[in-house]
Amino acid sequence: MALNLDSLGKKIGPFTKEYTWKDPVLYALGVGAGFSDLDYCYEKDLKVLPSYGIVTLYDFMPDLAALSNVNLAGILHGEQELIFHNPIPPEGALITAGAITQFYDKGPGKGALIVAEFDTRTASGQKLFTSRVTVFARLDGGFGGEDAPRTPAFMPERPPDYEIPATPSPDQPLIYRLSGDTFALHVDAEFARMAGFSSPIMHGLCTHGYACRALIGQLIPGAPEKARRMFNRFRSPLLPGRPIKTLIWKGDEGQAFWRVVQADTGEIIIDNGIFEYGDAPKEEIRFDGRAAIVTGAGAGLGRVYALELAKRGARVVVNDLGGARDGSGAASASPADRVVEEIKAFGGEAVASYDSVSTPEGGEAIVNRALEAFGRVDILINNAGILRDKTFLKMDPPDWKAVLAVHLDGAFYVTRPAFRNMKENKYGRIIMTTSAAGLYGNFGQTNYSAAKMGLVGLMNTVKLEGEKYGVKVNTIAPIAATRLTEDILPPDLFEQLKPEFVAPLVLYLSSEQCPVSGAIYNAGRGYFNRAAVVSGPGVMLTDGQTVPSPEMVADRLTDVLRMEGAREFYNATEALGAMLAGPEPQSGPAPGGIPQITVAAVFERMPQAFQAEKAAGVDVVFQFRIAGEGGGDWAAAVKDAVCTVTPGLQEKPTTTIKMAAEDFLNLMSGKLPAMQAYTSGKLKIEGDLLKSQLIEKLFKF
Ligand code: NAI
Repeated sequence: MALNLDSLGKKIGPFTKEYTWKDPVLYALGVGAGFSDLDYCYEKDLKVLPSYGIVTLYDFMPDLAALSNVNLAGILHGEQELIFHNPIPPEGALITAGAITQFYDKGPGKGALIVAEFDTRTASGQKLFTSRVTVFARLDGGFGGEDAPRTPAFMPERPPDYEIPATPSPDQPLIYRLSGDTFALHVDAEFARMAGFSSPIMHGLCTHGYACRALIGQLIPGAPEKARRMFNRFRSPLLPGRPIKTLIWKGDEGQAFWRVVQADTGEIIIDNGIFEYGDAPKEEIRFDGRAAIVTGAGAGLGRVYALELAKRGARVVVNDLGGARDGSGAASASPADRVVEEIKAFGGEAVASYDSVSTPEGGEAIVNRALEAFGRVDILINNAGILRDKTFLKMDPPDWKAVLAVHLDGAFYVTRPAFRNMKENKYGRIIMTTSAAGLYGNFGQTNYSAAKMGLVGLMNTVKLEGEKYGVKVNTIAPIAATRLTEDILPPDLFEQLKPEFVAPLVLYLSSEQCPVSGAIYNAGRGYFNRAAVVSGPGVMLTDGQTVPSPEMVADRLTDVLRMEGAREFYNATEALGAMLAGPEPQSGPAPGGIPQITVAAVFERMPQAFQAEKAAGVDVVFQFRIAGEGGGDWAAAVKDAVCTVTPGLQEKPTTTIKMAAEDFLNLMSGKLPAMQAYTSGKLKIEGDLLKSQLIEKLFKF
């Protein structure tokens, strides 16, 4: 029976190994730990020996053997490499998946090498370590493949810097085997004799564990989390009870070479050892093993998200139905296909999907595409979008519905089946795409604004329902140069707003590292900030028993509208609780005065302080420029007996008033008379000086 070379690259796993603190302790005892390194053996502040990662091999190997069709009578563990990404938690689940990555042929009668690589993650998807194993298949050579490249000799020839002695107990294999390798060779005397040994032999990986303890103890004592990589080649069997020595040579910073020898004979048991250690490098954000769906990824922002995710290892479903900007026109496969080609050109993995997000069947089909191609969905970026701008009265139902169907219904139709899979996997990252038009409003975009704000509502609740399944959902409001904005943004700005500037946030929010769920972000041109729905402290108009009158509302509108001390709520229950509890007691003067006075508060109150009956025939714009802490620019326009206050600068104010914040507050609270302020230079007036005198008449705080 020959090796099955078709097994190359076929996925093996995932295997889930659930464990309690007793498992790494049992392993540590199996590799000789005891009171001298109690950190590995005592559940209080337990540290897991990084080589414990090797136990996942025992799940992986049977499938590797079956899939490759290797002749079991001839296999030996050739080389082993462990790359440590994060410390192994004291308990939890180890989820392991990988594939055979190489077959080498040493020639007829000389054997073959099978190389496999797998990653182990926690249930929440955090990558713990990568394991690379080389199996020497003594009886499978001669299939006509390439031989492995020779490894140049790298072990130092000088005497080692450290020699760490140990004597495994004669019973050591009996403990070690409880961690997973129950092969008879290590326990059954008769089997061992048949295999040509005088008695059962040590597990090579047990000796490997001794070496790991020795290396950590010598190079990074008490800090196993600083182990970064351990590589070695197994050379000879060892009988239990024989003394050994781990020989260590220091190399460059953070690197050592090592070997295990039999202490009395010097025979090499494990050779070519490399051990790397130090602080974890700044963790690169990667998506290896992750499957992502990006809707509307045939162009614009979605295309860039898909490319960037694939560059960092994600397997991507590039979804795009390929219609016109307003969603009309014949669907076309080419935008999605082109992006898939771009990804494949740099060696990435992607498949195309041409379904529309705007139907339930389309949503299911998009998610099924990911499940069929990649077996899971870890990341969903709801990005597909169209525009049908019209002013409100011209907004016909078809234009209203078409836009809601793609943005809002579309996100629902794709997110629901994706969420189902994420719930099963207990891991997921979802991105919604809102817009400044939804968050703040935009003339001519009632349909789009409504759909985009609807997505925020969808996020708010998916955030709550996904919490216990490790599903995090966030919403971005991008601004980028794409066909959606080409006739809206000025040309010079268009150049500066490449979608690439938005993608870093989207990638971070799609990553394992992202701890946030339920937030909204503005992103464009490399600028990022958070937008939020916040609630002001409000006011209780009566004792809660008597129904207040509309006039009471009118009287206290300023307090109802006040936003100082505003806060966010995590869910509706919290918001309701705050409402029932009523506002926090306010410090400062009684109602009618200017409470907790700030410049912003003065302008907030200004429309209420406005004396409309004294404003007949007045048509002015007062521009206030308040300097210093808490200052800023506000304009108060008075026309037709209505006062409108807006932040910022007006183009042609009637009068400009310049003051320091403190003087302004004193003036408004009556402590500083206007004339005195003016003559002392604290109040500077530009423009129509006479009109400035109206201020005192028009506003009564
Ligand atoms: P784009 O027009 O370049 O890309 C949108 C893609 O979605 C297109 O390739 C289109 O074929 C695809 N699509 C449309 N309907 C679809 C459907 N039913 N099913 C599948 N695919 C569909 O636009 P852009 O600018 O890249 O927009 C991406 C997202 O970002 C949209 O949700 C948009 O509303 C949002 N956005 C963009 C802003 C910007 O400045 N570009 C501003 C605010 C939000």
